Amino acid sequence: MKIRKIKLAVVGIGVMGIKHIDAINKTSNAKLTAVVDFKKNSIINKINSNFYFSIKDMFKSETIDGVIIATPNSSHFKDGLEVIRHKCPVLIEKPITIRSMDTDKLINEAKKKKVQILVGHHRRHNPVMLKAKELIDNNLLGKVRTVNINCQMFKPNNYFKEAHWKKNDGAGPIFVNLIHDLDLMNFLFGKIIKVFSMSQNSLRGFANEDVSGAVLEFKNGIIATFLTSDSVASPWSWELTARENDIYPSTEESSYLIGGTKASMSLPNLKLWQHSKNGHWFTPISSTKYPYKFSDPLVNQIEHFCKVIEKKEKPIITASIANETIKVIEAIKLSSKSKKLVELKN
Ligand SMILES: NC(=O)c1ccc[n+]([C@@H]2O[C@H](COP(=O)([O-])OP(=O)(O)OC[C@H]3O[C@@H](n4cnc5c(N)ncnc54)[C@H](O)[C@@H]3O)[C@@H](O)[C@H]2O)c1
Repeated sequence: MKIRKIKLAVVGIGVMGIKHIDAINKTSNAKLTAVVDFKKNSIINKINSNFYFSIKDMFKSETIDGVIIATPNSSHFKDGLEVIRHKCPVLIEKPITIRSMDTDKLINEAKKKKVQILVGHHRRHNPVMLKAKELIDNNLLGKVRTVNINCQMFKPNNYFKEAHWKKNDGAGPIFVNLIHDLDLMNFLFGKIIKVFSMSQNSLRGFANEDVSGAVLEFKNGIIATFLTSDSVASPWSWELTARENDIYPSTEESSYLIGGTKASMSLPNLKLWQHSKNGHWFTPISSTKYPYKFSDPLVNQIEHFCKVIEKKEKPIITASIANETIKVIEAIKLSSKSKKLVELKN
């Protein structure tokens, strides 16, 4: 018997749109039916699917089961709304929107139209994170007290030349990169309630920060710090340590250090550091690297999206969950601007 494949469309055929198309092609029960971009280019010409210049035009001609939005950050709200109005499930790339009040509007519209939104925080679909959460929830670290997040990398000038929107407001390393790290911390440790942050304007003259750091307090008492920059030559980022995407050289360094009363963990190399029996800082400390089976988080994400479309699963990363991180980013920006501690309403 021939099984009907789930018909997917991708909107925004740039760096990430192409990654989504590759992931769809690796998913057995999904099929790329349409692509949308407001510009047609030689890469799009080679894609084996129907092409449209707008989401509206696509829905006039196609029956689509789910749409993936990979347009620039500031377009997600408008494009998401358009898909929801067509009562079609949608996977929206991060950031879901660049203003939490816009996400609230998407949530309301999706409720009215009974449409599911999944947000593209694909790292939650990485098996290493599921294993890390299992170890933390099983108390291998004892009580977690501290977290140190590093999100530091050097982007070449071409990165900004090829896509002008990456110079504009809402496309700095906080909204483009750190957002993933904040989402993973939300996954592991829940809500952040206080933020004190400092940022520096882009040395390249763009409309965003290129350096930012903060102290964060979680609702459960964990104190965290982060440092982010897209303008320092460094191996300390998820991109250069997680081996998710072979475009980046990989290192054995880590990007997260999580401190617990019994042990500490570094990620994504999934090492647990522990003193010998009932130890302390005068006793030997050694690390154990936990094994796990890697699978491509982008493919896992498409498989999950298909199950959401078939109503077999609820979205793992809902618009409401993603909006918790947008609110933290708003607090980071407000704290940097006001030079004051910002408390988040919960
Ligand atoms: N999950 C991840 O790890 C990850 C990685 C990279 C980018 N992203 C996100 O994916 C999105 C796209 O990033 P990118 O690097 O692929 O950008 P890009 O500039 O390479 O591609 C964007 C594409 O969208 C098209 N476009 C712009 N506005 C449009 C509109 N209104 N309708 C239709 N097409 C439109 C552009 O012509 C371009 O082809 C961003 O939101 C970014 O933050 C996520």
